Amino acid sequence: MMRFLPRVRCLFPYVLFISAVIFLIYTGPVIIRYLEGLIPMDKCPLHPGQTLRKGDPIDASLNLWSRRDVQTCTNWGAPVMWEGMFDPEVYDLEHRKRGSSVALTVFAVGKYLDAYLSEFLRSAERHFMPGLPVTYYVFTDMPERVGEVELGVGRTLEVVQVQRLQRWQDVSMMRMRAIADAIDSRIRHRHPYVFCLDVDQVFAGRFGSEALGESVALLHAFYYHRPRAFYTYDRNPASAARMEGRGDFYYHAAVFGGSWQSVWNLTEACYRGVVEDKRNGVEALWQDESHLNKYFWLHKPSKVLSPEYCWARHVGYRGDIRVTRLLWAEKHYDTLR
Ligand code: GAL
Ligand code: MN
Repeated sequence: MMRFLPRVRCLFPYVLFISAVIFLIYTGPVIIRYLEGLIPMDKCPLHPGQTLRKGDPIDASLNLWSRRDVQTCTNWGAPVMWEGMFDPEVYDLEHRKRGSSVALTVFAVGKYLDAYLSEFLRSAERHFMPGLPVTYYVFTDMPERVGEVELGVGRTLEVVQVQRLQRWQDVSMMRMRAIADAIDSRIRHRHPYVFCLDVDQVFAGRFGSEALGESVALLHAFYYHRPRAFYTYDRNPASAARMEGRGDFYYHAAVFGGSWQSVWNLTEACYRGVVEDKRNGVEALWQDESHLNKYFWLHKPSKVLSPEYCWARHVGYRGDIRVTRLLWAEKHYDTLR
């Protein structure tokens, strides 16, 4: 016993060091993400009494000063939508008066259909644009497998057949073409507004008419507190998606929308970028998302959605996320991609 003790004592620092390393490997990213959440966002440059330059007339009802902890408008005068800034009733009443209706496009190609579509639609029925007419446009390579979905009054579903591409990157990029085509052939005659969403998500709270606008982009849950230097813009000079400027925000391509004309312009432009890249043998860092970020840098959105509208639980705790409206579903890339 006496002879053993000194040896234990000299091992102690090593054990401590190795435990610390293991601890940091597991908790480091969580701690860093938590600390990152303490970096303040930019501030809305408007003062009480000043009005938004962009946005719908209903957006004049927003209280930009009810949330001091986050950025509630952009430096080009578009609102950034956070819980507490708006009265859902005001938006719903006005949109019902206008007869607004919404097309929701979603891609369920290959294994994504069985894995995600039914939960996505079921939760959308509860939370997406309650009280407004909605048509789901489900883009799939297997129309026969979409199955029966119970839909509320004024809500319909249409299937759009698309071809199956081998790489998920190509599916993601080609959706820009498919959406533009569907707007041309069907949507523009029926719906003033379009939202385009990824299928691997589940609605968890109201995603209502306050989100409607001429051109709508979403703040990516992982980047809204992160310094611009860490945004994953494409910087490859050979790609059409290369970002030359500093950028405004890092937008997430899992949610975008607007009037059918704006969404058509965006999807056309992104598709042209993808085709140009293919011709030059390059692929943007985050495929269509890189092109979308470039597009919104050049054509500023008229409304920006906070990450409440597409929250990722694995970001960890954030005091400024008071509600979650749409959540990233569990990813099963090993089996899905
Ligand atoms: C990831 C996300 C990707 C892409 C990427 C951009 O968190 O899963 O879809 O948006 O961020 O850096
Ligand atoms: Mn996704």
